[in-house]
Amino acid sequence: MKVGVPTEIKTDEYRVALTPSGVRELVDAGHQVFVQRGAGEGSSISDGDYEAQGARILPDAEAVFGEAEMIVKVKEPQAVEVARLEPRHTLFTYLHLAPDPELTKGLVASGATCIAYETVEDARGRLPLLAPMSEVAGKIATQAGAFMLEKPLGGRGILLGGVPGVAAAKVLVIGGGVVGMNAAFIAIGMEADVYVYDRNIDRLRELDVAFGGRCSTCYASTLDIERRLPEADLVIGAVLIHGAKAPYVITRDQLKLMKPGAVIVDVSIDQGGCFETSRPTTHSDPTFEVEGVTHYCVANMPGAVPITSTYALTNATLPFVLAIASHGVQSAIARDAGLRKGVNVAGGHVTCEPVAQAVGLPFVEIDEALGAGAVA
Ligand SMILES: NC(=O)c1ccc[n+]([C@@H]2O[C@H](COP(=O)([O-])OP(=O)(O)OC[C@H]3O[C@@H](n4cnc5c(N)ncnc54)[C@H](O)[C@@H]3O)[C@@H](O)[C@H]2O)c1
Repeated sequence: MKVGVPTEIKTDEYRVALTPSGVRELVDAGHQVFVQRGAGEGSSISDGDYEAQGARILPDAEAVFGEAEMIVKVKEPQAVEVARLEPRHTLFTYLHLAPDPELTKGLVASGATCIAYETVEDARGRLPLLAPMSEVAGKIATQAGAFMLEKPLGGRGILLGGVPGVAAAKVLVIGGGVVGMNAAFIAIGMEADVYVYDRNIDRLRELDVAFGGRCSTCYASTLDIERRLPEADLVIGAVLIHGAKAPYVITRDQLKLMKPGAVIVDVSIDQGGCFETSRPTTHSDPTFEVEGVTHYCVANMPGAVPITSTYALTNATLPFVLAIASHGVQSAIARDAGLRKGVNVAGGHVTCEPVAQAVGLPFVEIDEALGAGAVA
């Protein structure tokens, strides 16, 4: 198969979807790889590094989309990229379609087969292609929150871990999955007073054991969160319902309960945000204020640390890239039920039920959609 790697064009995005190791594995398996000139620069990977492993460097995105059958990316396609997609293409990337009807309609109209990293599942129903970036985003969330609590940056002016004789800051982590666990891990390491909320009691049990009681685990009832908000210095939102738009765990009215200068970090912003007052921001302009509370809502947090994130992401995606390249989409998803769950759009239809519900388009089974072939 011909595999194409365009340069990421989302604001402040420095990751790349394939490393030279990935090129080597694909080429050894008999595939051709086309990389856009400079695609790896943000992650300190040169064109020469790719060429040395057998990739062909093409001058621009148009050439890459023109040559390739499968496009491998990191972030959701931007409008100019959607316009380049055709029914012959397979797109493999993060899509986050539930909060984005416009992008969903664009992908449906393209006729391409679009597989979302974030809905691919493993045998235990976990999200193997979201997990590495969630680990990064969770760690950044606490780091960014601690920074934004500094007075010159508009924060309350409290040190997360306190000092002897002065109490530590209170950190609430809502959603104790991969992001939440990593955020809590760093907050505990910084000696904050940490509370992790989830609605899955088995998950709270796991966290309790993992952290050896060094944070409080709490059931995420509306009332319990509401009661804790007036004490919170930093709240990290990290909930997820697979494929769906994020539920609100703090409403605009509840935000008013928080102290002026407190900070909220909405990691779930890529699924529409879990605080009612959130809107997506960028690394260049990461925060805004509502009701005196600083909101940090960067939708591509791992993009800021590409040297870590590119390798963490591609370690996880490469086996799936190889499977799709070697077997084709239909055979690859027949062999792997978890990869099948990644197909969000195919043959001009939405093939992921939570996405169809969220964007108000009809849901069509994958086999029917791939069989249909034509754009609706
Ligand atoms: N902004 C970014 O750059 C970035 C990067 C990586 C991940 N993310 C996003 O972070 C979010 C979390 O990802 P994850 O990998 O940790 O997911 P996960 O599935 O591992 O964890 C989500 C947790 O939320 C819990 N949950 C669901 N509804 C809840 C509710 N109402 N109250 C409390 N808990 C609830 C679930 O039980 C689960 O434990 C996702 O939306 C993901 O896309 C964002």
